[in-house]
Amino acid sequence: TSKAKTAYVCGECGGEHNKWQGQCAECGAWNTLSEIVLEPAGAAAAKSPSRRAGWAGKVEAPKVTALSDVRHQEDARVSTGIGEFDRVLGGGLVGGAVVLVGGDPGIGKSTLLLQAVAKMAGGSPAGGPGFSSLYVTGEESLGQVAGRAARLGLAVDGVHALAETGVERILEHAATTRPRMIVADSIQTLWTESLTAAPGSVSQVRESAARLVRYAKETGTAVFLVGHVTKEGGIAGPRVLEHMVDAVLYFEGESGSRFRVLRAFKNRFGAVNELGVFAMGEQGLKEVPNPSAIFLSGGSLQQPGSCVMVTREGTRPLLVEVQALVDSSPLSNPRRVAVGLEQNRLAMLLAVLHRHGGIGVSDQDVFVNVVGGIRLQETAADLPVLLAVLSSLRDQPLAEKTIAFGEVGLSGEIRPVPNGEERLKEAATHGFRRAIVPRANAPKAARFQGLEVIAVERLADALEAAG
Ligand code: TYD
Ligand code: MG
Repeated sequence: TSKAKTAYVCGECGGEHNKWQGQCAECGAWNTLSEIVLEPAGAAAAKSPSRRAGWAGKVEAPKVTALSDVRHQEDARVSTGIGEFDRVLGGGLVGGAVVLVGGDPGIGKSTLLLQAVAKMAGGSPAGGPGFSSLYVTGEESLGQVAGRAARLGLAVDGVHALAETGVERILEHAATTRPRMIVADSIQTLWTESLTAAPGSVSQVRESAARLVRYAKETGTAVFLVGHVTKEGGIAGPRVLEHMVDAVLYFEGESGSRFRVLRAFKNRFGAVNELGVFAMGEQGLKEVPNPSAIFLSGGSLQQPGSCVMVTREGTRPLLVEVQALVDSSPLSNPRRVAVGLEQNRLAMLLAVLHRHGGIGVSDQDVFVNVVGGIRLQETAADLPVLLAVLSSLRDQPLAEKTIAFGEVGLSGEIRPVPNGEERLKEAATHGFRRAIVPRANAPKAARFQGLEVIAVERLADALEAAG
């Protein structure tokens, strides 16, 4: 029962193992474990039976209290001054919350947080006091940060900035200036003196984050950790931090598109899958509070291989275009590529299409893409995906102004999805005229606010309706 000095952490899922192994026992990924050095066990910490890796802190004797005697906090929320940001956070920022903001390099994470910090420092329009923040930059110089603020036209009067990567010094600074919020940009640049590992390594990232988490909880300071996600996900990615923080937000978008989507992936203080939508510009990120139709590709002519759906990620309906390209494959094992959707779901849908729709694509490459860099997680995308695939296979566009949504079951049944009527309303508002939807989602009448509703029960019905 000797104390472990090292542990093996999966770079994919953050799972922790006592010994090295080729495959992560938690997520099944191969060759993703790397050894991390745990903080040298201090005497005080070692005494605690509940000591967890990276949480070596002062441990006070636990005290049992009747829960009814505990003064509970109404999670008082502070607005970030950016409505779409607040929406994704679950209605604003909670004191002591640690929020990881992940995303590809260059996607706009620093810009978003700098805008939020500046807005918050300016106080509320109603004349409330400014919210003091500390913006810690480990990647850019103070000059660069100030330059960006000036370029974006931000009022940065109350914003304190610090170019520093040592966690100990950052916390010293915070202890004296007592900001109510700290932004650490980025977590990959931070390091703690207690470990010899290089900055950016899994152990440094974890331990630095753990220090900031502990500080946040002890002082009630809100902390944003910015983390770069690499495409490969191989290096000490923010994923290893997902377990330690209260909320994980991902900032996403296509490089060619000016729209950016902030998505809650985990949120202890709000709903997940809530989307915040922004448009990028010279003046920084602008909110798109009514994003409904921005993810349509915008061509006026209906193309083969395209199907518009109404998705409802979070609390808003959103019109999204699903595109498919089906092409005869030279490979014995044709490709199935899904961008913005789960790959396995696509494979399953193609199997259902074959078995219950009588349409085989086993000699075809199938590519499916969700326009605008949106990622669809709900099963309502099933039917639109199959209609787009069919349309591409036949090289026949769907009828003009058609939308679809619905889950496809393994026996070829079309199953209802939540909020059917709201989705239909949204489609009608945007001038769509035809909707192919699950029977259980269809209103009684065949017309709904100018929309011809085609209710389908089986995949075969849906394929027929699509022409
Ligand atoms: P940046 O915020 O630095 O990205 P990240 O921190 O995620 O790596 O943004 C990348 C670049 O894009 C930067 O040069 C600023 C520019 N940019 C704009 O000009 N307007 C915008 O609205 C955004 C978000 C970024
Ligand atoms: Mg940055």
